[in-house]
Amino acid sequence: MNITFIGVGNVGGAIADNLQKLGHNVSIAARDPESKSVQEAVKRNPDLSVKSPDEAISSAEVVFLATPFAAVESALNEFGKAIDNKILVDCTNPVSPNLTHGLESKISGSEKVQQLVPNARVVKAFTIYGYENFEDNNYSGYGDLKPAMLIAGNDSSAKETVAELCRQLGWEPVDTGNISTSLHLEHMTLLWIKMGRVQGFGTGFVWAMLKK
Ligand SMILES: NC(=O)c1ccc[n+]([C@@H]2O[C@H](COP(=O)([O-])OP(=O)(O)OC[C@H]3O[C@@H](n4cnc5c(N)ncnc54)[C@H](OP(=O)(O)O)[C@@H]3O)[C@@H](O)[C@H]2O)c1
Repeated sequence: MNITFIGVGNVGGAIADNLQKLGHNVSIAARDPESKSVQEAVKRNPDLSVKSPDEAISSAEVVFLATPFAAVESALNEFGKAIDNKILVDCTNPVSPNLTHGLESKISGSEKVQQLVPNARVVKAFTIYGYENFEDNNYSGYGDLKPAMLIAGNDSSAKETVAELCRQLGWEPVDTGNISTSLHLEHMTLLWIKMGRVQGFGTGFVWAMLKK
């Protein structure tokens, strides 16, 4: 599958690397090919191709958005038209100081993203954990139980495509509902950060889904 990344820092760089290793054709939609994050991503995995945003996005079936939330509007204003009808995986989180929701919990960041690119098929995914788990989600000793990746979005077929990418990466995708459900996922992110980065759990933990 042709996949591209807007933002290849901690999050985008890790997911891009692992998707390329699965055999996908992964590019970086680079506004600046010389930037530190692009250089580091390519150093980590030289098989990532670096393209102009227009070229990368127009040839991609799936676009990952992994910029700081504060940069989302400018990134999407710049490249938004090219994203029309594409699957846009929103990995961003609006986080404010003291681990509060960056939009005061009134609306999710992903709904804002969907508003900015109304014709894109936005799926929230790859947010509820730290990037360390996107680098390595291997938790041995749990048999067939996989770590859960909670996703949300309005477009069922887009969610199924993203769910399949999650499965290939070793996650159990869990469809939590439409895009407004992202607000709850963003609060799970705040919980994970508080536990993992503030309260001493460490970053090597994820959640799993048990069902009857
Ligand atoms: N860190 C985590 O553990 C984690 C986990 C889950 C979700 N998230 C969320 O994922 C997002 C990315 O986090 P991160 O830790 O990967 O950030 P990061 O390491 O700072 O990387 C940010 C990336 O976004 C690019 N970027 C910045 N402004 C841009 C713009 N206006 N247009 C296009 N690209 C732009 C940067 O490119 P340049 O190098 O060119 O500036 C860089 O590649 C955030 O929204 C964060 O909340 C983070």
